[in-house]
Amino acid sequence: MDDLMVVILAAGKGTRMQSRYNKMIHKLAGRPLIDHVIEGALDLSDKVVCVVGHQARQVKGSITRCEAVEFVQQDEQKGTAHAVWQAEDYISSHRGQCLILYGDTPLIRQETLMKMIDIHRKREAGMTMLTSRLDDPTGYGRIVRDEEGEIREVVEEHDADDDKASINEINAGIYCYESELLLKSLGLVDNDNAQDEYYLPETIAHIKEVKPLASCRAEPDEIIGINDRQDLARAENILQERIRSLHMKNGVTLIDPERIYIEKDVEIASDVTIYPGTVIRAGSIIGPECYIGPNCQLDQARLGREVEVKQGSFIIASQIGDEVKVGPYAHLRPGNEVGKGAKIGNFVELKKSSIGEESKVPHLSYVGDGSMGRGCNIGAGTIFANYDGENKHRTELGDEVFIGSNTTLVAPVKLGDGASTGAGSVVTDDVEERSVVLGVPARFHKKKR
Ligand code: UD1
Ligand code: MG
Repeated sequence: MDDLMVVILAAGKGTRMQSRYNKMIHKLAGRPLIDHVIEGALDLSDKVVCVVGHQARQVKGSITRCEAVEFVQQDEQKGTAHAVWQAEDYISSHRGQCLILYGDTPLIRQETLMKMIDIHRKREAGMTMLTSRLDDPTGYGRIVRDEEGEIREVVEEHDADDDKASINEINAGIYCYESELLLKSLGLVDNDNAQDEYYLPETIAHIKEVKPLASCRAEPDEIIGINDRQDLARAENILQERIRSLHMKNGVTLIDPERIYIEKDVEIASDVTIYPGTVIRAGSIIGPECYIGPNCQLDQARLGREVEVKQGSFIIASQIGDEVKVGPYAHLRPGNEVGKGAKIGNFVELKKSSIGEESKVPHLSYVGDGSMGRGCNIGAGTIFANYDGENKHRTELGDEVFIGSNTTLVAPVKLGDGASTGAGSVVTDDVEERSVVLGVPARFHKKKR
C-alpha cells in the first residue's frame, strides 16, 4: 500500500517484565516480540519507521529484516505520543495514512489490520482505532463512549475511577491516522495525567473536532499487550495454538497438541507424527512421514522422509537423510550429516561428523569430527578421541569399517575400507584397508579376505 506508512513504538524499557533485557527482545515462538510486529508491518508497507530508545542497539539487532526499517531514537521515554513525535520527519513528508503499532502487541492478525484500514478509508476518518472487549480489562486503556456510541476518550488504568475502570471495551494500541492530522494533534497533547506522560490516545480529542473518528473491533486473542511475564505466557499459548492448528491443517498429526511446542519458521511435511513433550525450534524442516518424540528437541534440524527420532533425542543444526533412526536418547550437536538408512542409537553423541548411508552407531559412543563411509558398524563404547588438549583432529573411516566395542580412535587417524578393530583397541596409527588391528596401542593382526 503506497499511501500507507507504519510507525512502530519500541522505545520503552518494559519495566513490568522485571528483566535486564528490553521487553522487545523477549521471545514469542522463538522470535523477539518486535520482530513479529516488524514482519507484519513490512507485509503492509515498505515505509516502516521504528522508534527505539532503551537498549536500542540490542532491539535493532534482534530484528531479522533490520535493513528494511528506518529507526528513530527516543532518548527519554515520555509517553506514546512523545514517541510518535520522534518520527515527525518521516510522517510530515508522507501523504496518506499512518498506521501506529505498539511493539508489545505482536498477535494482531493481518486481516484485522486490513479491515481497520478499510474502515478508515471508507469512513474518511481522521483516525480509526482498534478496540476489543475483554472479560478482564485490567491494565488497558478503557474506551469511554458517549450516548450516541461515539468514542469520547481513552482513560488509562492509572487515571480511571471505579466507574471507568469497569468498562470492558479497551484500547488495543493500534491506530490508523491521516498523517497530517496526526502531527497536528500530537502538538496539542499535554502530560496532565497520573504518569506525567504524553499519551497518544489523547490525540482523539483534537482529531474529533476536525474529522470523524472511527473504530474497528478486534478479537481478544489478538490484542494482548505484553507488559509482564504473565502476558508473555498468555500470548505464547495463543500463538502456539495458532501454529499447531496450521500444521494440523497441513496434515501433521500432533498427539496431545497442547504438550507440543513449535516455534515460527518451521516446515513440517504431511503425515508426520509428533508425540508429546517435543520442542521444534526455528529453522527446522521435517520431511514426510517422520515420527518424532516423545520428549525430543529439534533445533535447525533438517530431516528427510520417514526419519524416526525416538524418545529423548536432541538434534541441533544437522542434516538427517531419509529413513534414518535416531535415539532413544541421542544427542546430535551441530554440524552432522547422516546418510540414508543410517542408525544413531541410544546414548550416542555426534558432533561435526558425517555418517555414510546404512552405517550404524547403535549404542553408547562419541563420534566427534569424524567421517565414515557407507555400511560401517561402530561397536558400543567407541570413542572418537578428537581432542589432544590443544587442537581438534579428524578421524576418517572408509566404507564397511567394523569397529569393535570399546575402541578408542585417537585422531588424527584414518581407517581404510573394510578395516576392523578388536574390542578395547586404542588405535593411534592409520589402518590399511581390510586390515584387522588389536590391542593397546593397536597392532596389525591379520588381513581380511
Ligand atoms: C498502552 C495504551 C493503552 C492501551 C495499551 C494496549 C497509551 C498511553 N496507553 O498502554 O491505552 O490499552 O497500550 O496494549 O498509549 N513506548 C515508547 N515510548 C514511550 C512509551 C511507550 O516507545 O515513551 C512504547 C513501548 O515500548 C510499548 C508501547 O509504546 O511498545 C506501549 O507502551 P506501554 O508502556 O506498554 O503502554 P501500556 O501501559 O501497555
Ligand atoms: Mg503495553
